[in-house]
Amino acid sequence: MASTLKKLVSDEGRYLKSFQLFLDNSSEHQCMQEFVHGTLPDILARIGDGKSSVNVLGVGSGGGKIDLQMLSQLQKKYPGISVNNEVVEPCAEMIDAYKELVSKTPNLENTKFTWHKMTSSDYEHHRTEKNITTKMDFIHMIQMLYYVSDPSATVKFFRSLLSRTGKLLIILVSGTSGWAKLWNTYKDELCDTNLSQCITTQEIKEYLDAKGIKYQNYELPSSMDITKCFTEGDENGELLLDFLTEICDFSKTAPKDLKAAVMDLLRHPECSKEIDGRIIFNNTLGALVLEP
Ligand SMILES: C[S@@+](CC[C@H](N)C(=O)[O-])C[C@H]1O[C@@H](n2cnc3c(N)ncnc32)[C@H](O)[C@@H]1O
Repeated sequence: MASTLKKLVSDEGRYLKSFQLFLDNSSEHQCMQEFVHGTLPDILARIGDGKSSVNVLGVGSGGGKIDLQMLSQLQKKYPGISVNNEVVEPCAEMIDAYKELVSKTPNLENTKFTWHKMTSSDYEHHRTEKNITTKMDFIHMIQMLYYVSDPSATVKFFRSLLSRTGKLLIILVSGTSGWAKLWNTYKDELCDTNLSQCITTQEIKEYLDAKGIKYQNYELPSSMDITKCFTEGDENGELLLDFLTEICDFSKTAPKDLKAAVMDLLRHPECSKEIDGRIIFNNTLGALVLEP
């Protein structure tokens, strides 16, 4: 049965608020930062070898916080190298936030930014129409494949843009996370079938394995405090619940039995742990690194 509940992504203002709350209540960006500082330098080890400039492409970059940290690691690896950094991001507000962050960040004088206010599929058309053939040395898609209609085709397209030593980094929630349990149980009720909202790295790995494409897989442990979701009427709790269910105003609009069942599942040991009276959701991420 396809869900008739209003999707959170259809209300940009509420989506942005709930996404920010998710960031504030989770270790999402901390665990990415650890990955960027601890593991990414090795991943980027050879991408700029013998080059005076490298091409980087961020797809679904949001406010650019993680992007700029990755660029900083790249500059550390290749001091003084010129970086052409292209950003594909459909949300104007996010691009503005990214530009503001750039204006406040030191040591970016060797980095040129090109902004594409468009979706990944629009970018694909843009390249075809303009006959652009530039190869990319590093492409990243962090927490964005949920929003495309065909993730495998998207991965295939962006991988085809890689230079000989290029790398494609994909980060999504892991198949071992609480999200996977939630989506495996309530996909029909919660997920938008026009998009791929309920995918994890597990589905991408299955696609890559089926095609015989090699990749490296990293698990990034992360958690999210969802205690507020269980306080009836708590505004922030309701926004967080919207983020978890991807439904607008889930607490007020979901059928009673669905709401009760989802709330129950969110506390289930396969989704969360109770620590010192707080409900801590398993937000483990998966990072996949592909070569051309
Ligand atoms: C969950 S946010 C992740 C942002 C950032 N990468 C991070 O991890 O903080 C998803 C981002 O993907 C963007 N997005 C949504 N649909 C997209 C699409 N079809 N193509 C490219 N980006 C998209 C959204 O505007 C949003 O900025």
